[in-house]
Amino acid sequence: MDLTKKNISKTLEKVNISGSSDNIVSSGILKNIQVFGDQVDIDLVVNNPALQARKKLEVDIMKIIHNDIYEKAKININTKVENKTSRNTDEDVVDSPDSPKISTQAKKIDGIDSVIAVSSAKGGVGKSTVTINLAAALAKKGCKVGILDADIYGPSVPTMMDVEGHIPKSIKIDSQSKIEPIESYGVKIMSIGFFTKLDQAVVWRGPMASKALKQMIFDTNWGDLDFLFLDLPPGTGDIHLSLVQSLPISGSIIVSTPQNVALADARRGIKMFQQESISVPILGLIENMAFFKSKDSDEKHYIFGEAGVKYLSKDLNINFLGEIPLNQSLREASDFGRPASLQESTEISEVFDNISKNMVEQLLIRNKELPPTKVVKITNLVGCSAIKK
Ligand SMILES: Nc1ncnc2c1ncn2[C@@H]1O[C@H](COP(=O)(O)OP(=O)(O)O)[C@@H](O)[C@H]1O
Ligand SMILES: [Mg+2]
Repeated sequence: MDLTKKNISKTLEKVNISGSSDNIVSSGILKNIQVFGDQVDIDLVVNNPALQARKKLEVDIMKIIHNDIYEKAKININTKVENKTSRNTDEDVVDSPDSPKISTQAKKIDGIDSVIAVSSAKGGVGKSTVTINLAAALAKKGCKVGILDADIYGPSVPTMMDVEGHIPKSIKIDSQSKIEPIESYGVKIMSIGFFTKLDQAVVWRGPMASKALKQMIFDTNWGDLDFLFLDLPPGTGDIHLSLVQSLPISGSIIVSTPQNVALADARRGIKMFQQESISVPILGLIENMAFFKSKDSDEKHYIFGEAGVKYLSKDLNINFLGEIPLNQSLREASDFGRPASLQESTEISEVFDNISKNMVEQLLIRNKELPPTKVVKITNLVGCSAIKK
């Protein structure tokens, strides 16, 4: 069966609302279906606010589309609760460590399909390099891509994408103020670096940084995106928790070098994403600076150790997305502001091409197996339980 609006609507007549003999089409809770290639966006408005009920409905919808129409469909379900008593369903609720009952609920960003967090517990291992090269490679293939450079300690995306010193404009959309991202190589970019001077040492306190980042995420006029990459700051601290609390992250990528010190940090990063109260799926690990080859020899030199990240991924049963060699032209391309992944059929551009394919494949598997990442309902991690399983 073709993945069309009509076929989807017909198929969804088989999905009943729990506790009722009404199906979601005849009852009118199915508000909209959009199909773009293999991507399906579905809007629902339900009046049962119970999370379990909503989740079950979403899973039923996904299963039936995957089983009856197209098993690789990328389904995105946007469920709103029609609630007469509370206007806060989609809102941030106050966040206070003293009051464990108060929850934070992330707002979905309209039009953004997948949010991918690129992280490493250690700095300088190649997070930004991976982010910009994957983003540019996907944009080159015709995907709509954005980058949020959230590295408050060293925002390097503007330099690597050749938009250093650009100042985003403020615009009005439906009488709301928004910031227009800066576009380069077809990628929409927002960076904390656009708002600070190059030579200015920025010392952000946790709450200030979190606030600035949330604002950049939600007030940027991203438009429709297939992928929004988040270049996270190194570490596993407050900023990370704040981001995973405020964004529906579809999956994370963890970058590490094969060195022992970096691997130990990577393990910590993995644990952070995997803890029950966060449960952001890990799409895979990337081994950066995996080896060095000189121009006139094929011999590989394992400067930072051999295959450490590969072993780690086996050990923890996490997918391995690929390895990137230590390569002078990759560093030069970044410094020059032109992503190496845009080169025509070089060793490096093929490396990023492969990694981007593996990433998308993992994302599709993830979308098939799990309901869309739900927001993380936590205030302080200790003693709080997750809302999603
Ligand atoms: N595989 C690589 N080969 C050569 N240089 C690299 C490689 N990966 C990263 N670099 C360089 O190392 C430095 C740190 O990388 P960067 O991506 O900024 O790390 P992070 O964002 O994790 O701090 C940059 O100058 C970058 O160009
Ligand atoms: Mg960086």
